[in-house]
Amino acid sequence: AREVKIAPSILSADFARLGEEVRAVEAAGADWIHVDAMDGHFVPNLTMGPNVVSAIRPHVTTFIDVHLMIAPAEPYLGAFVNAGADLVTVHAEAGPHLHRSLQSIREAGAQAGVALNPATPVSHVEHVLDDIDLILVMTVNPGFGGQAFIPAMLEKIAAARALVGDRPIRIEADGGVSPQNAGDVVRAGADVLVAGSAIFGGDYAERIRAIRQAAG
Ligand code: DX5
Ligand code: ZN
Repeated sequence: AREVKIAPSILSADFARLGEEVRAVEAAGADWIHVDAMDGHFVPNLTMGPNVVSAIRPHVTTFIDVHLMIAPAEPYLGAFVNAGADLVTVHAEAGPHLHRSLQSIREAGAQAGVALNPATPVSHVEHVLDDIDLILVMTVNPGFGGQAFIPAMLEKIAAARALVGDRPIRIEADGGVSPQNAGDVVRAGADVLVAGSAIFGGDYAERIRAIRQAAG
C-alpha cells in the first residue's frame, strides 16, 4: 500500500503564533505542512504570500506543500520556491499556460502539482503527466476552510488514480477531510490528505492519529 501523508493546512492555525503552530503540528506527527495562498481574485479570500513560507521555513524540517489559489500564478512561482516551498501547486483553471507554469516550478527547484476545482475534469492533466509530481483534487470549492466534503469527488479521485497509472504522482485530497471520510478518500486512491479544521480544532496529535487510523 502507498504511504499516506497527512498535511495539516495552516489556514486554520492561529496566524499570530504561526511558528509555534507549525512546530506543534510537526511534533504531533504531520508529514507535510500545507500552505494555502489566496489572492481575492481567483478565490474570494486573501491569505498569505511567500513571506509567510519563509517565516515558517526555519521552524520545521517538514516538507512544505504550497497550494496557490492565485491568478496569474506565474509572477510568484520563483518567490514561493525561494522562500522554501518543497512543492508548489497551481490551479489548472488559473491561466492558459499550465505547462509553462509547471516548467517554471521545476526549473526553480521544487516539485510541481496541479490543482483541479470540483467541476474541472481530470482530463485537464492528461497531457502534462510527465511534468507533475502531484494532482490536488479539490474536495470543496477553494477559498475557505471548514466546508463540507463533496462526496462526488471520491469518483474523481479514483479517475485521477486511474489516469496516473504507475507513474510516481501523488493524489492529494483537499477540503473537508476528516476521520469520518479519510478511509473512503484513501480507498478511492488519494495518498496525501490535507486537513485544516479537522486538525487545528482540537488536540493535534490525537486528530492526526485519528485521520491516519481512518486512512488505514
Ligand atoms: C481551501 C483550502 C484547503 C482548506 C482545508 O481552499 O485549499 O486547504 O484549508 O481546510 P478544511 O480541512 O477545514 O476543509
Ligand atoms: Zn489547500
